[in-house]
Amino acid sequence: MSDVVSYQREDEIGLIVVDNPPVNALGHAVRQGLLDALDQGLADDGARALVVMGAGRTFPAGADIREFGQTPKEPALPDVINRLEDSGKLLIAAVHGTALGGGMEITLGCDYRLALDSARMGLPEVNLGLLPGAGGTQRLPRLIGAQAALDAIVGGKPMKAGQLEKMGVVDKVVSGDLKAEAIAYARQLADDNAPRRKVSELTVDKESNTVFSDYEQSIARKKRGFLAPFHCIKAVQAATELDFAAGQKRERELFTELLNSPQSAAQRHVFFAEREVGKVPGIAKDTPRREIAQVGIIGAGTMGGGIAMNFLSAGIPVKMLEMKQEALDKGVALIRKNYEATAKKGRMTSEQVERCMSLLTTTLSYDDLSDVDLVIEAVFENMKVKKEVFGELDRVTKPGAILATNTSTLDVNEIAQSTRRPEDVIGMHFFSPANVMKLLENVRGEATSDEVIATVMDLSKRIGKVGVLVGVCYGFVGNRILHKRQAQAISLVNEGAAPAQVDKVLYDFGLPMGPFAMADLAGLDVGWRIREGLRESDPANAPERNWLDALAEQERWGQKTGGGVFDYAEGDRTPRPSEVTAAEIEKYRAEQGIDTREVSDTEILERCLYVMVNEGAKILEEGVAMRPLDIDIVWIYGYGFPVYQGGPMFWADSIGLDKVHAKIQQFHDETGHDDWKPAPLLERLAKEGKRFADL
Ligand code: CAA
Repeated sequence: MSDVVSYQREDEIGLIVVDNPPVNALGHAVRQGLLDALDQGLADDGARALVVMGAGRTFPAGADIREFGQTPKEPALPDVINRLEDSGKLLIAAVHGTALGGGMEITLGCDYRLALDSARMGLPEVNLGLLPGAGGTQRLPRLIGAQAALDAIVGGKPMKAGQLEKMGVVDKVVSGDLKAEAIAYARQLADDNAPRRKVSELTVDKESNTVFSDYEQSIARKKRGFLAPFHCIKAVQAATELDFAAGQKRERELFTELLNSPQSAAQRHVFFAEREVGKVPGIAKDTPRREIAQVGIIGAGTMGGGIAMNFLSAGIPVKMLEMKQEALDKGVALIRKNYEATAKKGRMTSEQVERCMSLLTTTLSYDDLSDVDLVIEAVFENMKVKKEVFGELDRVTKPGAILATNTSTLDVNEIAQSTRRPEDVIGMHFFSPANVMKLLENVRGEATSDEVIATVMDLSKRIGKVGVLVGVCYGFVGNRILHKRQAQAISLVNEGAAPAQVDKVLYDFGLPMGPFAMADLAGLDVGWRIREGLRESDPANAPERNWLDALAEQERWGQKTGGGVFDYAEGDRTPRPSEVTAAEIEKYRAEQGIDTREVSDTEILERCLYVMVNEGAKILEEGVAMRPLDIDIVWIYGYGFPVYQGGPMFWADSIGLDKVHAKIQQFHDETGHDDWKPAPLLERLAKEGKRFADL
């Protein structure tokens, strides 16, 4: 008998139970076990019908993703499901938890589907750069039609039991004891002589070709660069044109293409990396967590308000503090406006808006923060101001309260030293807009306690963020790498590229926008003011004036003023090349005596990305990031690095570190610039023929 799949009979019903914690993934042993248990059930004359279900927390949640990329082992899942469907007995799937991917495909190989009301089912393979490869693209359209199947397969989102019942996927929704309900249902079906219902034998209406091309059109923008969604559409189209066997063959071909693609390798890396970032090496799993039942936020500006929304949306009460009532009123109004805009789009009900708003209170007095469990400071980026705030927090907050700063540049250790409890101080660096961006860089200071780290990492998940733990340095992981890339982008323009050319290369690589469109979005005035400040305070070390300063001086601050590096038409965020910018660049080049040259797209890509990889390697060596995957996740969730490239460090591995290192060395030889000095870690890995993933 298999360890992971058991067979037993109860009340004339044979139960096939998968027990492979944590999520009953359909690895080789489970697939073989399913066939063995099926044979037992078929041979068991006392069993009038068979039920397939999962032990523990869920029905199988899919193929074992760790097996992808290894040599496939028979029996393959599509064959297992075909065998289930062809079995001589009535087969019922009884679903709880999350029947995803191959799990949902198993249910489609059964005659009837019963689900607990809390269960969800879906085909999320597209998120792994794959398509449902065990008959899902062929059976689902036969069951619910091509259009609904496209939504489910290309969308990849799990659906609730009630919704699945309406769609005709689930036959019956039950609550309470699933096993008892499943046995009763199976007996009922057997008593009623219910017919077998092989989904593969259902007919699916032939759709006109435009259904599929229209669908492609409809996702073209959102899924730009991705391979899998378009392969999913092709597979569903095959279901409408071919018989089941031929359709399944086509599905297999498309699946295999995706499985062997670099995109799927990258997306699978991201799946596991996203889970790994939550596990902090050196911090025990059972580290006690502090209870966070109420949060204080200092500052009701755009950042403070955005941060507050994360907690309110997660049902955690927030007290917001400002110096002036007017600022509080403005902040509260902005939060309400944002929620109402979401409600208008149909993504929230008005009751939910009111529930969130009812969790928000405001105050002008620090003393009112005496009962909060966590305070996040989101005030002006100035060390003196921050130290004053933390001094006040130290005075008023209760022992054990966590004191967090949202600083993006300042030294968390220095801030912590302004309190008598540096072990309770941590950075929580939200990315703008804070209620939208999924990344949260949690910055560990020298003294931050394990308990505080563990609590904040858990809390990140609770408020829907991906928390990555980083160490202290200027810009932390994300912005430190970003600054290096921006510097290259500017140099490339100085040397002869146009801003639009640089942006296009990075956009085509898959980033949501290029460096200059990003600068226009953030506002050119921000960097300009910082540089101006440095020119006043430290003229000897201040950065040279460049064409970006010239643009900022003309109040070309980006999107918000209708023009920055690019021009923007009223109400349109499409960047258009600007003559003013071109003239300023020319002027700057002339002043500097630069002989311009043609800059190739390849050079743009290499310089903008390799500099990130080199800085990433330095960050790893310094221990500011713990693992390469932490850097990948920071860049994916903080800056929209394309998931299908896997993050900058995974991408570098896929190019080959020897190649990356050689080019970085060449750039260093040519420029002598510090940013191109190869990181010793990169040098070592390249020499040893290793990857960052081998660390
Ligand atoms: N294969 C291997 N491991 C898996 C897995 C899978 N399909 N699904 C989850 N796991 C692992 C996770 O890596 C994690 O491991 P660690 O504890 O070591 O980190 C553990 O199971 C628990 O997972 P989560 O932390 O994600 O737990 P959760 O409760 O938050 O979520 C879940 C559970 C909804 C099932 C979520 O894990 C999930 O979405 N899993 C992936 C589902 C999926 O994509 N299935 C399709 C697979 S591809 C397929 O089936 C192709 C086909 O057509 C044959």
